[in-house]
Amino acid sequence: MANVKFYAGESFPLEMHKVRIIQKLNLIPVEERGKAIAGAGNNTFLLNNRDVFMDMLTDSGVNAMSDRQLASMMKADDSYAGSETFTRLDKSVKHFFGCKYFLPAHQGRACENILSQTFVKPGFVVPMNYHFTTAKALITVNGGTVEELIIGEGLKIRSDCPFKGDIDTGRLKEVIKRYGADKVAYVRMEAGTNLVGGQPFSLANYEEVSKICRSARIPLVLDASLLADNLYFNKRREERCKKMTLHEIVLKFAELSDIIYFSARKLGFARGGGICTNDHDIFLRLRELVPLFEGFLTYGGMSVREMEAIAVGLDETLDEDMISQGPIFIDYMVKELDKRGIPVITPPGGLGCHVDAMAFLDHIPQEQYPAGALGSAYFIASGIRGMERGTLSEQRDPDGKEHFSNMELLRLALPRRVFTLSQVNYAIDRLVWLYENRRLVEGLRFVEEPRILRFFFGRLEPVSGWQGKLIEKFRKDFGDSL
Ligand code: F0G
Repeated sequence: MANVKFYAGESFPLEMHKVRIIQKLNLIPVEERGKAIAGAGNNTFLLNNRDVFMDMLTDSGVNAMSDRQLASMMKADDSYAGSETFTRLDKSVKHFFGCKYFLPAHQGRACENILSQTFVKPGFVVPMNYHFTTAKALITVNGGTVEELIIGEGLKIRSDCPFKGDIDTGRLKEVIKRYGADKVAYVRMEAGTNLVGGQPFSLANYEEVSKICRSARIPLVLDASLLADNLYFNKRREERCKKMTLHEIVLKFAELSDIIYFSARKLGFARGGGICTNDHDIFLRLRELVPLFEGFLTYGGMSVREMEAIAVGLDETLDEDMISQGPIFIDYMVKELDKRGIPVITPPGGLGCHVDAMAFLDHIPQEQYPAGALGSAYFIASGIRGMERGTLSEQRDPDGKEHFSNMELLRLALPRRVFTLSQVNYAIDRLVWLYENRRLVEGLRFVEEPRILRFFFGRLEPVSGWQGKLIEKFRKDFGDSL
């Protein structure tokens, strides 16, 4: 967003785009919201969108597209092999990352599947700054283990550390020594580290990691799904990056990586994914799996229309006006909540606003899933759906014991360019009300618990009749308001 000063002194986010297509929203009454969340087994993934007012579940595949993206979709060339659309996407990706080879895949986890199947064997380890749910599940399913080496500051809720997504390079060296370099499948660095609150890593840290990997001959894999946010913070918070263009920063990250993969549901503001490398041998090894799991090499499971949109979306990622709306709105939301004493992750990161459920609901024990309970209560209070990012999003240990998450977060995603500032103010208002009434909220317990990625379709019930009491209090305080 541009540097615009306000005459009145106070400053607030100013959008550098206009809205030309709208979608009508529904806000159902609080009693209906109570029924909807009960019907969804208190799992916000299982709600129907027609019952949701603001969908803050994720930024994945739901970012607003630009006029240029929509226009590009009209010229999509539909063919199984060798389409003009693929040629355009291939050119755009190679230009963006400055890489020689590109393999398309239908989304981010498809890339993770291909990488894990190629590199991970039983007994192997993948050190990383922090796990992402699908990345970890696909590594463990192939017999590998994950070592999370994020710096200590990364796991603190409140901090003023500008790069909480950095890896602890001392611990990285120690892990490589402990396992032996031949047992390290690859090192994975996640841009805009999702599960610790969309926190970026610094270019300086990435340089050090790359040096360690190269001297141990271990491939360095960059998960660039949330690179747009990471870039924004590099440019704003890292002295040397202030003088660089966004593209120069991307090219530097790419030069330091051996493999880059991304979910184009996030990077590129559309739906798809892909893997890049400069290494011919790695390219050949990965390429074998693309037709097996994804589709032919010139579409990889994506629709040609989406491919056209990604090509333009990547180009627009290099324009600061186009990528800054998300982080600036998040900054606004986090600071407004923080001012009102509501526990949120600081400093503000990318992707969304992350509420600390462990502090918000400090009376709920971790085995009753405070972040899940907060997500359920917040839907009742507001019609907004967030996403549990805590113990429910973890998998149980191999012996079946609950694996408590480091943090219990309710993530309120801000898909890029989708919400207005007044909607964000509504989200803040309802969270403030819920905070004042937090003692009414109690925990959840499983009714149905899937074995893998249980947060997607697990069903839970409240441990008591607390939801009815919350609805009653809402009616008392808000009268006939929706
Ligand atoms: N890596 C990161 C950092 C992600 O955030 C995601 C998805 C993936 C990989 C997997 O990509 O969904 O295209 O298969 N994150 C979504 C989210 C699901 O809501 O945060 P995908």
